[in-house]
Amino acid sequence: MPVDVHQLSYGLGAEIRGVDLSRPLDPDTVGAIRRAWLEHGVLLLRDQDIAPEDHIRFSRYFGPVEDYPLVHYRHPEHPEIFLLSNRDGEGRPAQTRNAGRHWHSDLSFTARPALGSVLRCLKIPDIGGDTIFANQYLAYEMLSPAFRAFIDPLEAVHELFSKTRDLKNLDQGQVRDMKKANPRIVQPVVRVHPETGRKALYVSIAVTTGIVGLDEEESDAVLGFLFAHQTQVQFTYRHRWRPNDILMWDNRCTLHMAVPDNDHRQVRLMHRTSISGTPCGRVLDEDRQEAA
Ligand code: SIN
Repeated sequence: MPVDVHQLSYGLGAEIRGVDLSRPLDPDTVGAIRRAWLEHGVLLLRDQDIAPEDHIRFSRYFGPVEDYPLVHYRHPEHPEIFLLSNRDGEGRPAQTRNAGRHWHSDLSFTARPALGSVLRCLKIPDIGGDTIFANQYLAYEMLSPAFRAFIDPLEAVHELFSKTRDLKNLDQGQVRDMKKANPRIVQPVVRVHPETGRKALYVSIAVTTGIVGLDEEESDAVLGFLFAHQTQVQFTYRHRWRPNDILMWDNRCTLHMAVPDNDHRQVRLMHRTSISGTPCGRVLDEDRQEAA
């Protein structure tokens, strides 16, 4: 099946046309999608009125899809799917209504971060509820050679609940479970993409809380600079959703966030799969907890 690729912005992103995800894809089509994905970081596929099984099958062409690690947020019938909504089944505010509201790379707070994610829109408010992406190869490459040499060997601590997360409206029992299941993880500040060999920034304001070996003031200054630098508009693509849009992104070289600009009286409902990547990062040991 021929695949048309149309670039969406200078920073990253492309739309793929001519693919129907309600049926299995042939290897040539999967190969063409994978090449476009590695080149553009984010792909858009429109008008995919598909079942959860089709969504999972499509995701599996790119790597293993396991049950979503935050057990409380799984789809009740398809544990591989992260159910993201601002309303629960009874129309009350959902626990995930503010998920992904700060820049992040999916599951970087685990030692098996997601290689990629596939997000499908089921319902979207009339206005807002966009998702925005930033190219972290470009962000890295736009730093001076001297600063790149300084950060190249550094490591940083990633944790599920940093101070950007407002926990007070969440179920406290679920928060305790999630904290217990997700100890702090050390990740490289600059990640070498295992497929392209290119370097990308791998910190994010949602989960990165300190640089290993720097004191707090130094660490805050370096991270503050990186958080501002890595999300400049020229590195971004902002997606205005329509129902049955699918976006798939490469978490090894992009960041994203759900823009907090929608009216919660209207439903925003998304299904996301996470494609497992090669292990990256390690649990922060007691000694390093002192140092970070
Ligand atoms: C996510 O962080 O994966 C979800 C983004 C969104 O809901 O727009």
